Amino acid sequence: MTGNVRPETMERITTPELAQAFIDEQVKELRAQVGDKKVLLALSGGVDSSVVAALLIKAIGQQLVCVHVNHGLLRKGEPEQVIEVFRNQMNANLVYVDAVDRFLDKLANVREPEKKRKIIGAEFIRVFEEEARKLDGIEFLAQGTIYPDILESDGVKAHHNVGGLPEDLQFELVEPVKLLFKDEVRVVGKALGLPDNMVFRQPFPGPGLGVRCLGAITRDRLEAVRESDAILREEFAKNGLEGKVWQYFTAIPDFKSVGVTDGKRTEGWPVILRAVNTKDAMTATVEDVPFELLEHITKRITAEVKNVNRVLYDLTPKPCATIEWE
Ligand code: XMP
Repeated sequence: MTGNVRPETMERITTPELAQAFIDEQVKELRAQVGDKKVLLALSGGVDSSVVAALLIKAIGQQLVCVHVNHGLLRKGEPEQVIEVFRNQMNANLVYVDAVDRFLDKLANVREPEKKRKIIGAEFIRVFEEEARKLDGIEFLAQGTIYPDILESDGVKAHHNVGGLPEDLQFELVEPVKLLFKDEVRVVGKALGLPDNMVFRQPFPGPGLGVRCLGAITRDRLEAVRESDAILREEFAKNGLEGKVWQYFTAIPDFKSVGVTDGKRTEGWPVILRAVNTKDAMTATVEDVPFELLEHITKRITAEVKNVNRVLYDLTPKPCATIEWE
């Protein structure tokens, strides 16, 4: 796709037929742009990078090299799903990088949220750069830039941070969905055969669970965030809230509270549940989750997640709170 301005005549992609026409046109354009060269893509498993990966696999197959960096801050099952969908089902050339220890070691004892974000972003670039250097003959870098990224920022995905690669690793960019809005990217993703839970998934911040394990990240609390988040997602899916609520997750503060188990006083972490609705993430309202479901989720989390003895539901809209806790 050339140019960074969406032509006024460009039809909104709302149907499978329009998505297929877009895919056919992009496949042609991508083949013409790339020729027989190789393309590198940081594949997070989010909607945008997944759709770009699927488009490129269709257009150039094995000339695409996807790099999936597991920074240890992904949700339960996500790295496994990326491998299953892209390597096993789509036969993609996928490099899986287990960088969990690297990230968690760098983040140890770091309490300040913005510092945590910076470390995660910088370490991501470093890992990606190291992988890029191991590969020969890469001339292009694919990015899941979408139109709101161009309208709202400098066109670089903040959480991918690939704009930060060093001079000698500057590749020509391939950005096939850069003129599309999010809803159009989803329609294209569906037409490309990506699974619904990938195409329609809720927004997930680049620093991932790192900003939901509040304060300094510890492995045990991070695991508790991941497990409680999985329970919340499972229960929302079972109870018809998955496609209805815009964003929902759990967070755990870095302190314990007193509880009682089998007649003995115990100390455990509180888990905070958050479920919000919004159009643009600038303001948000709280989902009115049925009380019985909140009770059921509380029972499950306190029974199934180690060292958790309390569950709270965050009733605060944005403003005055933000959606994330840090
Ligand atoms: P807040 O907490 O600012 O969140 O109300 C608004 C939306 O932005 C997401 N968010 C982030 N996304 N990197 C991201 O890629 C971040 O550092 C980050 N912080 C917040 C948040 O999940 C919500 O959808």
